[in-house]
Amino acid sequence: MSRSITIAKAGLPPGPKGTLIGGNISQIGPRRVDFFLDLARTYGSIASFRVGGWHLFLVSDPELIQQVLVTDARHYVKHFGARVFKPILGNGLVTSEGDFWLSQRRLMQPSFLKSLVLSYAPIMAELTTAMLSKWAPGKAVDLEFEFSGLTSAIALKTLFGLDDHGEREKVDQSLMEAIDALTARLDKTFSLPLWVPTPTNIRLRRAIANVKALVDGFIARKRSRPLANDLLSTMIMAQREDGTRMSDQQLRDEAMTLYLAGYETTALTLTWTWYLLSQHAEAERKLVDEWARVLGGRIPNADDLAALPYTSAVIHEAMRLYPPVYAIGREATTDLELGGYRVKRGYTILMSQWVSHRDPKYFPDPERFWPERWLDGLAGRLPKFAYYPFGGGQRLCIGSHFAMMEATIVLAAVGQKYKFTLAPDAVIDIKPQITMPPKYGMPATLELR
Ligand code: HEM
Repeated sequence: MSRSITIAKAGLPPGPKGTLIGGNISQIGPRRVDFFLDLARTYGSIASFRVGGWHLFLVSDPELIQQVLVTDARHYVKHFGARVFKPILGNGLVTSEGDFWLSQRRLMQPSFLKSLVLSYAPIMAELTTAMLSKWAPGKAVDLEFEFSGLTSAIALKTLFGLDDHGEREKVDQSLMEAIDALTARLDKTFSLPLWVPTPTNIRLRRAIANVKALVDGFIARKRSRPLANDLLSTMIMAQREDGTRMSDQQLRDEAMTLYLAGYETTALTLTWTWYLLSQHAEAERKLVDEWARVLGGRIPNADDLAALPYTSAVIHEAMRLYPPVYAIGREATTDLELGGYRVKRGYTILMSQWVSHRDPKYFPDPERFWPERWLDGLAGRLPKFAYYPFGGGQRLCIGSHFAMMEATIVLAAVGQKYKFTLAPDAVIDIKPQITMPPKYGMPATLELR
């Protein structure tokens, strides 16, 4: 149903000229965040561009972002970039919409209450200790690889209660195959539907079937054993108001969604944080001082978190400069107004954390890594959508407490024992996909602190 809308300005928001057929596709390039930043700096807080027949707006004013994610949220759905993962995430929280999504969100929310999330702190500490026991001074590591392995282990243990290393590797391997293939589809202008038996599609379908079979096995096992303190158990027990519970298929979709939404994002937070610290000795020294004062060599537990303000500021600042999710998108389901322009049904609105987090109006000297900016209550003074590493509105990340606690525990546990020196020939660049890993990894050498 179309709403009555008042349009103040004719046409599309300003943007770069494109070609007749491809639009601006050739200008976007692999570092698409540079294109977004240029767009916002050249054309202002609402700009537009085109990819083929597809119209996109880039919105970077906090009030306009709020209008999309909060005020008009019911008139938007997730854009193509999220929907492409439906074959693997099914109807999980990230990819579902409307009443179904809302009912699932209500059902899942209690599993992410702060008190319950805090009970996972010992698992995070234990698995970090296990990782550290395999490290030694002088060892060459890739930080992204190490932290992905750790956050994946933490996700599988807190989700499924899974300890078995072999099982973990099987899940990881099949998932990575599926995700790589789906991400490759995203980068293509045209992909044949999944049911067409091309060799790539057959491989992808096999990888998806493998992951599903593994996760179904975990669910069957969990149902047959006394329930424990893991997320799958709380999801199995969760009841709707009418007394119904999630089906096995829904449990599988939600479990895969939580795993995929949670582990790489947190690994990237840790990877980029350590990168920034390796370049900023003074900030690292202040962190080490805070840990010595508050923890004295211990791994933090849930009670310590509030006593580590500098650690929290460092993580905030790292997620400002290197937001693991660097853009989110919505597609209009009806004709709407935004910033005085008409948003036609089917248009995509992009909001980029990479761009917003570099707005000098809110973050003076925006490229500077300066954790101190967070220490005097900046978070409380900023407009709601000036800083949004976890998104916002009704689709705010359900795992934000989980991620912040995990990042704090791992950072302090690792940083009290080791420091990292980046490999002298390391080339550090970003690779914006759905998340933003370092393009060539993050090679470093371990040194005892
Ligand atoms: C630093 C780590 C993380 C970052 C930066 C992050 C970021 C985000 C963002 C930006 C969204 C909103 C996407 C949108 O509106 O289109 C989101 C949604 C979501 N995240 Fe996270 N996330 C992180 C960790 C986690 C963890 C640890 C979990 C699970 C344990 C998780 C589960 C989810 C789920 C299920 C959603 C969809 C929520 C919904 O639509 O109802 N995330 N995340």
